[in-house]
Amino acid sequence: MSGLRRNSFEQSTAAAAHEPLVDRFMRRITDIRISLTRRCNFRCVYCHDEGLGPVLPARNVDPLEMTTSHVLKLVEVAASFGVQSVKFTGGEPLLRPDLAEIVRGSRREIPRVSLTTNGSLLQHRAVELAQAGLERVNISLDTIDPEAFRAIRKGGLAAVLRGIDACLSAGIRPVKLNMVVFSKTLPFIDEMLRFCAEKAGLKLQLIQFMPELAGLKEWMVDIDAVKRDLAQRASSVEVRTMHRRRIYKIGGAEVEVVDPVYNREFCDHCQRLRVTEKGELKGCLNRDDDLVPTVGLDTEGLRAAFRTVVERRVPYYGVYVRDFPERLPDTGPPLRAAQPPPDNAQDLPQAL
Ligand code: 5AD
Repeated sequence: MSGLRRNSFEQSTAAAAHEPLVDRFMRRITDIRISLTRRCNFRCVYCHDEGLGPVLPARNVDPLEMTTSHVLKLVEVAASFGVQSVKFTGGEPLLRPDLAEIVRGSRREIPRVSLTTNGSLLQHRAVELAQAGLERVNISLDTIDPEAFRAIRKGGLAAVLRGIDACLSAGIRPVKLNMVVFSKTLPFIDEMLRFCAEKAGLKLQLIQFMPELAGLKEWMVDIDAVKRDLAQRASSVEVRTMHRRRIYKIGGAEVEVVDPVYNREFCDHCQRLRVTEKGELKGCLNRDDDLVPTVGLDTEGLRAAFRTVVERRVPYYGVYVRDFPERLPDTGPPLRAAQPPPDNAQDLPQAL
């Protein structure tokens, strides 16, 4: 039982324990993504740095990083608003020695706890993390070609493959492989589909290259064409509530497409809140004009901070950025819902 749970505030606000966080666009926050560090041991050419500014060297100490207890306090407050899943990210979150402690503490509060990692440091820590309650993980893997991998990621492939196997052996499911789709990786999609079909527990996540923070617009490829191709080959297509992401089943592989760029529908259905490594709440990956600091706040202050950042949330494409090319509607087999609608689904507008 943690400090926050024991204090009288929690008892006096029992009725509000699951007050939902809903923004002005009726988007309910169900999901929180927490950066634990800006340090990283890779230097991926496409990195958007989680919208935090350039990553820092792995070996440096960063005194501004949140303490273990502050991370867990934020998780607890998020849980009190009914948040259902937390994802830890970086930089590279495995550079934090207290990661298993953070996972263990979070599992006491929130049902789904996950991690986005480059995988290079997982081999010897997958068992510890699984024992702490980590059930699922995202590992960045854009190709299984060692030379292309090194050119794109500025790191070694072998350790990442060992990390993936270590997670599967430790019973972590699913292991989602994050593949950023851009001109340098487009030729590897089929190979990655085969790789995922061969090992039980793997799922492929194709992430459209986002130039908003990384620049290099010329690296973008036509993600709608990729989706049309997947739809033609798929035995089924589902649509997730979160971001209206499509999930295709193709020859034993499951592939989910994350395509936020110029995508009004994606932003209309974003239910995610973010936290920077310094403990600032952040309403959108692409914005840093909405940050709300939280370090030093008591429970009531933290709850107010959550409400403030949610009040500032607007769909990035559609409201924050109005002038952008329209995207063609997805074609292919009819879609069905992959997840039950959220509690307040009847209130959600179909389009803004
Ligand atoms: N575009 C799309 N996805 C990106 N990622 C990092 N930078 C970008 C970008 N510019 C994804 C990687 C990594 C996760 C943290 O973010 O897939 O797994």
